Amino acid sequence: MVTDVETRARIEDRVNQGLRGQWYPVAKSVQIKSTRPYGTTLLDERIVLWRDTDGQVKCIEDYCPHRGAPLSYGEIHEGNIGCRYHGVVVDGTGTVQRVPAMPDCAMEGRKALRDFPVIEHSDAVFVYVPSVERPEPPDLPLPDELKDPAWTGFLCSSVWDVNYRYALDNLADPMHGCYLHAESFTLAFGSKQDLLDLDRKEGGFRISRRGQSGENFDWSEFVVADSGMFCFLDIPYPPAAGPGGHMRILGYVSPMGPRRCKVFFWRMREVEGFQRESWRFLYRTLLEERHWNVLEQDRVMLEGMPDTARTREMLYQHDIGVAHLRRALNAAAKAQLAAEDAAQ
Ligand code: FES
Ligand SMILES: [Fe+2]
Repeated sequence: MVTDVETRARIEDRVNQGLRGQWYPVAKSVQIKSTRPYGTTLLDERIVLWRDTDGQVKCIEDYCPHRGAPLSYGEIHEGNIGCRYHGVVVDGTGTVQRVPAMPDCAMEGRKALRDFPVIEHSDAVFVYVPSVERPEPPDLPLPDELKDPAWTGFLCSSVWDVNYRYALDNLADPMHGCYLHAESFTLAFGSKQDLLDLDRKEGGFRISRRGQSGENFDWSEFVVADSGMFCFLDIPYPPAAGPGGHMRILGYVSPMGPRRCKVFFWRMREVEGFQRESWRFLYRTLLEERHWNVLEQDRVMLEGMPDTARTREMLYQHDIGVAHLRRALNAAAKAQLAAEDAAQ
């Protein structure tokens, strides 16, 4: 007999670990090479990525089928990955290709490891984590700005030592902008008191300040698809930042482990012609460092919060976005666990 308390704990665990059946960005494209493997974690599992001889990104478990050494410590041989420990070579499907130390070894030809679907888009590498409900990868949900050539931008990514939920909560919480980032170049404006509105939308929700818009980080919108979640928000630019409108930030957060996540932010602008080049130049020479400073303020604050903060918080009206996000994650985790139970 499973009690409500146990069910709630299972749901909470699943949400904390990260939903399955989702596409997650795991690295910037430039980090994945054909000359050396890249090891990382996703949903607390070790994975390794590299490029084969055609430049296609491969992703398998970071685990040597011989005795479990991390394949990410190994080398790339003709598009396959060779274990550093005793030389076993595995291909991008997780099948053992060669056991150089042992002639006619029975391991050869065996599919020993799980492989993960990969899509490379807009300078990032996305990996699909299958679920019982969706073993095959669905379409990768992408923001329109990443598909529209009128937009141009830069991807920045960082590892934060905090459960991914805190990074998502932070994005559903526009009111922190005028406090935490009060000293920053772009976020020093607007009133420090307001109420927030939550608008439920088809496939997501939007959280916005009632009293101001276009002055600071005044709203954010979450797109919650079955197969992935991302959010976007606008940062108004002061006149000193040059011509053009707002900067749009597209954000993804990937769960790496119980207390680690990787954030991916594309900083985009819809600018064409010479303004496009001048903004890109300005960004690299001046703005990027300032944006990193803002992101560091978020990282330091979130990493300073205890893992148990959610168990003794006192939410108020401004936390409607945070609360709504949690309901969405809980509902998805509950459905996922029910599908797993039914399949057993
Ligand atoms: S553990 Fe990898 S070859 Fe032995
Ligand atoms: Fe922030």
